[in-house]
Amino acid sequence: EDPAKLAAFQSRIDADEKIEPKDWMPEGYRKTLIRQIGQHAHSEIVGQLPEANWITRAPTLERKAILLAKVQDEAGHGLYLYCAAETLGVSRDEITEMLLDGRMKYSSIFNYPTLNWADVGAVGWLVDGAAIMNQVPLQRTSYGPYSRAMIRICKEESFHQRQGYDAIRKMAGGTPDQKRMAQDALNRFWYPSLMMFGPSDKDSVHSTQSMKWKIKMNTNDELRQKFVDQTVPQAEYLGLTIPDPKLNWNDDRGHYDFSEPDWSEFFDVISGNGPCNTDRLAARNQAWDDGKWVRAGLMAHAEKKRSGTVA
Ligand code: ACO
Repeated sequence: EDPAKLAAFQSRIDADEKIEPKDWMPEGYRKTLIRQIGQHAHSEIVGQLPEANWITRAPTLERKAILLAKVQDEAGHGLYLYCAAETLGVSRDEITEMLLDGRMKYSSIFNYPTLNWADVGAVGWLVDGAAIMNQVPLQRTSYGPYSRAMIRICKEESFHQRQGYDAIRKMAGGTPDQKRMAQDALNRFWYPSLMMFGPSDKDSVHSTQSMKWKIKMNTNDELRQKFVDQTVPQAEYLGLTIPDPKLNWNDDRGHYDFSEPDWSEFFDVISGNGPCNTDRLAARNQAWDDGKWVRAGLMAHAEKKRSGTVA
């Protein structure tokens, strides 16, 4: 690539200009965005599965209506993000097929099961909490369509986080059994939530370049620390215990010290061997196959309309 073009591109990024679809961009920038936005879109779509599992069994009509709305929002987020990816010259079908045959990833977190209603609260509180922590800075990302999608997504995501916190608050303040369920959900979701931010900075392959291009605004460890600092007081308020004996406020650093997740588990999960990877991909493959006749019908209709043969 022409060094002069690369330098001009970098100075636009440094000046906080947004890059738009028709602007010149380095091939690596385009590829990184397709990977990150595509993975993000897939996460929103696959992320519907663990929660949808509880729609029919939500404890009240109100909780059911809220959960239904939330799961629908996630579908919407996936669609905005697929549209943002399409502006980079890849079709939604192409990246969907890459998800379905395992060439593209989705967030590790959605490979853990939701075993009971407290898990739905924990997912909203912790998983959506971690997602917002990562997504708020992405509103300022350098690629225009991604940044604009993030602005809308963050508004909805903060509602999701609050509904989760409200559900877990109810459980934590309920009967001893309900409180035990809330604690158990926190125990199981704590480390997987910390893993959502990606590997530690020393093992993050893409961070340096992505931050230079302002595709990412923070490192994985920076955001993980912010998440811990924000969540510990929330757990204290709920009367729940973070399952980490090493968790401790460090006055010198002005942050909590905490234990790292088990990174071998993380790498195992992202290479397809988490508790639910097979189920999640099977569900997405089935949805894709079941929807084939709808896509074919829409294409046939569009073709008829184009050739003027619609009755
Ligand atoms: N789950 C699955 N894969 C992950 C995760 C994770 N939590 N974290 C990192 N990885 C993968 C990366 O995709 C990369 O693999 P690849 O090269 O095959 O794509 C590898 O691990 C190394 O990690 P990094 O170099 O740190 O990757 P990256 O710079 O892309 O950072 C991060 C990862 C922080 C997740 C970044 O992609 C990001 O901010 N994405 C946008 C947010 C997002 O996708 N959120 C989805 C979950 S939130 C939700 O859907 C509700």
